[in-house]
Amino acid sequence: MAQHAILVLGATGSTGRRLTGLLRATGHVVRAASRAGETRFDWSVPATWEPAVAGVSSVYVMAPDGTPIDPAFVSLAVERGVRRLVLLSSGGIEAMGDERLMAAERTVRDSGAEWTILRPSWFDQNFDEGFFQPAVMAGEVVMPVGEVRQAFVDAGDIAAVAAAALTRDGHAGQTYEVTGPRSLTFDEAVEIIGRAAGREVRYRGSDEDYLAAMSFSEQAMAEVKAFAALRALGDQPVSDVVHRVTGRPPKPFETYAEEAAASGAWRA
Ligand SMILES: NC(=O)c1ccc[n+]([C@@H]2O[C@H](COP(=O)([O-])OP(=O)(O)OC[C@H]3O[C@@H](n4cnc5c(N)ncnc54)[C@H](OP(=O)(O)O)[C@@H]3O)[C@@H](O)[C@H]2O)c1
Repeated sequence: MAQHAILVLGATGSTGRRLTGLLRATGHVVRAASRAGETRFDWSVPATWEPAVAGVSSVYVMAPDGTPIDPAFVSLAVERGVRRLVLLSSGGIEAMGDERLMAAERTVRDSGAEWTILRPSWFDQNFDEGFFQPAVMAGEVVMPVGEVRQAFVDAGDIAAVAAAALTRDGHAGQTYEVTGPRSLTFDEAVEIIGRAAGREVRYRGSDEDYLAAMSFSEQAMAEVKAFAALRALGDQPVSDVVHRVTGRPPKPFETYAEEAAASGAWRA
């Protein structure tokens, strides 16, 4: 089989789905993989790895929250001829002590393949496809990040940066902070979502609010610590990565919110 296919992990997820669409629209051969995807790939079932990676030249490497990037998969991919890896990591991982993603970054850097690491800010799509969607519908978003500004980024822009890194030269050895065009407080972001959705949505951002909302679970205590470290970094700076890599500016948060509302994301 020709070594030209691109394997996209998490191909039914918020970034992988968009990446698969972008790559196919530009004529690339994509193997769209996940547990329920066109190609079966399960991080917890190593027997699914080899068929997914056979004949592939580049891989979009991602794992959902809580799942490590297994170094044995990355070694197998490189042994089978994969030359390029693009890893979905996250901003702020050192401050937040995210051992899972720090280990994932080491794994791709040490893989022997060309690598590019994407460190995105909070995805805009958390509000309509992800973990804030039920909170928006319930009228209250609780996150222990106070009034610090975060550079929310559109998943389509992350996918566009990933597509460029997978298919064009000049991105090897780069670690990209992928951000939107403007940093917003959660208060501002939630206000924009509420306006676009035509709903009353409020934000509560203290540690106490979060702990109470999460029933004082052990996990919530650990998260509060990690988010305190993120808060201590101060307002997140905006980067020019999306514009520099894709040639067009990142999508404003307001545009994302209007489009999501128009698609019916927050209709009852
Ligand atoms: N959300 C944010 O604001 C944010 C910000 C920065 C970084 N990140 C990082 O982004 C990642 C999440 O990315 P995403 O939002 O694109 O994902 P997502 O929308 O949560 O989708 C998860 C994908 O992983 C697949 N999956 C789930 N369990 C799997 C398994 N055991 N083996 C193989 N595939 C599995 C799912 O498909 P199936 O169910 O079909 O398997 C799906 O395609 C996390 O690592 C997170 O740390 C997120």
